[in-house]
Amino acid sequence: MDYTESQIKYMKRALDLAEKARGFTQPNPLVGAVIVKDGEIVGEGYHHRAGEAHAEINAISEAKSKAMGATMYVTLEPCAHYGKTPPCANAVVRAGIKEIFIALEDPNPKVNGKGITILEEAGINVHTGLLRDEAIRQNRVFLTNQIKKRAFIALKSAQSIDGRIGPADGRPLKITGDASHYRAHLLRRDYGAVLCGVNTLIKDDPSLNIRYNISHPENSPVRIVIDPHLRLPLSGKIWHSSAAPVLIYTLGNVSSALKKRIESRGGHIVSLPDKDGIIDPLRIAVDLLERNICSVLIEGGAATLTAFFNADLWDEYHCFIAPKFIGANGITVYRKSMENDDDAVVLNAEQSVEICEDDIRIIYKNRQGVELCLPESSKKKALSGKSDAIHLVRR
Ligand SMILES: NC(=O)c1ccc[n+]([C@@H]2O[C@H](COP(=O)([O-])OP(=O)(O)OC[C@H]3O[C@@H](n4cnc5c(N)ncnc54)[C@H](OP(=O)(O)O)[C@@H]3O)[C@@H](O)[C@H]2O)c1
Repeated sequence: MDYTESQIKYMKRALDLAEKARGFTQPNPLVGAVIVKDGEIVGEGYHHRAGEAHAEINAISEAKSKAMGATMYVTLEPCAHYGKTPPCANAVVRAGIKEIFIALEDPNPKVNGKGITILEEAGINVHTGLLRDEAIRQNRVFLTNQIKKRAFIALKSAQSIDGRIGPADGRPLKITGDASHYRAHLLRRDYGAVLCGVNTLIKDDPSLNIRYNISHPENSPVRIVIDPHLRLPLSGKIWHSSAAPVLIYTLGNVSSALKKRIESRGGHIVSLPDKDGIIDPLRIAVDLLERNICSVLIEGGAATLTAFFNADLWDEYHCFIAPKFIGANGITVYRKSMENDDDAVVLNAEQSVEICEDDIRIIYKNRQGVELCLPESSKKKALSGKSDAIHLVRR
C-alpha cells in the first residue's frame, strides 16, 4: 500500500509520543496513538507506564465525542485481552473510530491478530504496516522478550584501533574520549541492567551507574556481575551507591555467611548450574526476563563479551573505537584464538557508524533479530543481507 504524506506524518507523531515513555513501560511496549478528524488531530495519547492506561484509551479520552467517525494511527495492534486494563480493541470500536492504521502487529500470544479481528468484525477499515520498520526498532526490547523469551542483550566495548580493550597488566586505562564516555552513559539509561565480568569489577572498580545527571532515579539500571566463584571484593564502588540493586550470578552453593555479608550490602546472589565450566549466557538472559529485567547492557571484559559472542547471544553491539594503538600485548576484545581459517568469527550484522569527536561508534545489529519472526514484509527486509548501506552520522 502507498501511504500519503499526512498518513506518514500522523504515524510519525504516534511513534514520537510513544518514545516519551522510554524507560518507564517495561515489561510493556512503547505505544503511541493519534486520532485525526477532517485533517485535524483531535486526540493524542501514549502508554506512560506499566499498569496505567494504554495509548488508545488516552487518545480516545482526549478526543471524546470527536473520535466518532475519525481515523486512528497507533504504533502497535490494540490489545484484545483483559490485563491490568480492559481490551483496547473494544474501546476503539465503542469510540466509533471508522479507520485505523496500525504500524505493527503485536506478537504477544494474548493479542497476536485478535485485536485486528475485533476491529475488522466491527466494520472498521484496518491497515497494517505503516512505518512498521520504525515500530520494530522502537519496540525491539519488547519484541525480543515476547518472541525469544529472554532479555534483550546489547554488548559494548571501548577499544583501540588495534582492537585492545586494555593494557596487558589489566590496569584501568581510559581508552575512548569524553564524547564516547557521555554516549556510553546515555546508553546505560536505555537498559534495565548493566553487567560486567568479575575481573572487570576487580580491576576497574566500576560503579556501573549513570552519571552526568541524565537519569531519572526511578530508572537506575540494576548492576550485575558474573562471578562464578564469588571473588568480588565487598569494598568496591559498586557497593557505595544504593541507586539500584546489585545482582551476582554465581555457580553452585554459597556459604550462608558470605551470602549474609553480600546481602547486608544490598547484593542478591543467583546460583545457576554449570554448563561446560561456565554459566550458560542463555540461562542468564532467560533469568533476567523472569525477574522483569527486560534488557541488559554488557560492558565487558573480554571473557564476558566472548562468552556472549560465542553463544551468538547478542542483539546489538556498540563498539567504540579510539584513534590509538595499545599494542600487541594488550587485551583483545575477543579472547578466543583462531586455529583454522574457518574459525574467524564474522558478525552476521547490519551496522551504522557514528562519529564521537575523535572516536567512532559502530552499532552492529544481529541479523538473526526478531525481524525474522515477524510477518512477511519485515522478514524480507531483514534477510536482504549485505547490501545494507553504512549510515554515517556526524554530531
Ligand atoms: N575497554 C573496555 O570496554 C573494557 C570494558 C570492561 C573491561 N575491560 C578490561 O577488561 C579486563 C577484564 O577482562 P577479562 O576478560 O579479564 O574479565 P571479565 O570478562 O571482566 O571477567 C571474566 C571473569 O568473569 C567470570 N565470567 C564471565 N562470564 C562468565 C560466564 N559466562 N560463566 C562463568 N564465568 C564467567 C569468570 O570468572 P572466574 O575467573 O572466577 O571463573 C571470568 O574469568 C580488565 O583489564 C578491564 O580493564 C575493558
